[in-house]
Amino acid sequence: MDSARCVARGLRKAFGDLVAVDDVSFHIDSGEVYGLLGPNGAGKTTTISLVVGLLARDGGDVSICGDDIDAGAKVRAHIGYVPQEIALYTELTAAENLRFWGRMYGLGGSELNARVAEVLDLVGLAERAGDRVQEYSGGMQRRLNIAAGMMHRPELLILDEPTVGVDPQSRNAILTDVERLGASGMAVLYTTHYMEEAERLCDRVGIMDSGRLIAEGTRRELIGSIGEDDRIVIGFDHGTDLSAATDVLNAVAGVRGVTVDGAEATVLASDGRVVLAHAVRDLSAAGLGVAAVELQEPDLESVFLHLTGRALRD
Ligand SMILES: Nc1ncnc2c1ncn2[C@@H]1O[C@H](COP(=O)(O)OP(=O)(O)OP(=O)(O)O)[C@@H](O)[C@H]1O
Ligand SMILES: [Mg+2]
Repeated sequence: MDSARCVARGLRKAFGDLVAVDDVSFHIDSGEVYGLLGPNGAGKTTTISLVVGLLARDGGDVSICGDDIDAGAKVRAHIGYVPQEIALYTELTAAENLRFWGRMYGLGGSELNARVAEVLDLVGLAERAGDRVQEYSGGMQRRLNIAAGMMHRPELLILDEPTVGVDPQSRNAILTDVERLGASGMAVLYTTHYMEEAERLCDRVGIMDSGRLIAEGTRRELIGSIGEDDRIVIGFDHGTDLSAATDVLNAVAGVRGVTVDGAEATVLASDGRVVLAHAVRDLSAAGLGVAAVELQEPDLESVFLHLTGRALRD
């Protein structure tokens, strides 16, 4: 695993009787965005704290870019850690904050100035560089917080729920930032309890619950693993012969079942997109009037529900 930026094996951490992280293992390659998805209290932040060496492990080991995390400051320099709380000086400007963090990491002179401009550009704040942080919105502060974690060009960037409490527009901007970073070859460890964020951003997702990694894979692998059908809901024009429509639908290749309720039919199929196209074609060839169609595909929320019997968010 030459390209592995982060390898965590058998991580364990208990607080008294509570096992917050229980035998958690994963790896992240360069250019990969890895998501830890789980509800409040699942153990995401504790896992991250073990990975960056902020919390002592009860078991397991961590290596970053091939070096053991216990090897000290040199290893930690590979990591950019953006905690959930904002760590900025509000009376200083954005550029001043970044210069401060850059100096902490040993940058100086023209290299420091160039890097400040670069990371401001990366998070889309170049035009606000000279504004004081206290004039920033919450979302902009979060983006600057991310920029601060990147000053030293880390190979692994760790973001702990960076969009919590942020308005939709800033949230979208943060997600776009992270997408760009992944595409630039950085390895990213991203925690969230928002299923949509994990679906959009993450190349692979580890689903956490009660301290354990209960499933891991690409979105497609995870959804495929639960073997749940897609559902196509078809609304018909008033007066349509629904028993004829049911016959047509049952004859479409790939259909696993059809139920009718009022003027609506629900079709189960493993490949909903293909079946949907064929169903609409055959219904219209038979002169049966389709008023509306909706495709409902299982998502990571369905996976969590399938594995735990609970919703990701209540
Ligand atoms: N310092 C601590 N002392 C005692 N218990 C702790 C401590 N830190 C975390 N815990 C407990 O460990 C469990 C996991 O907490 P953690 O913060 O890792 O969850 P999380 O997945 O990050 O949740 P959230 O989505 O709310 O941030 C929780 O039950 C929490 O109460
Ligand atoms: Mg947390």
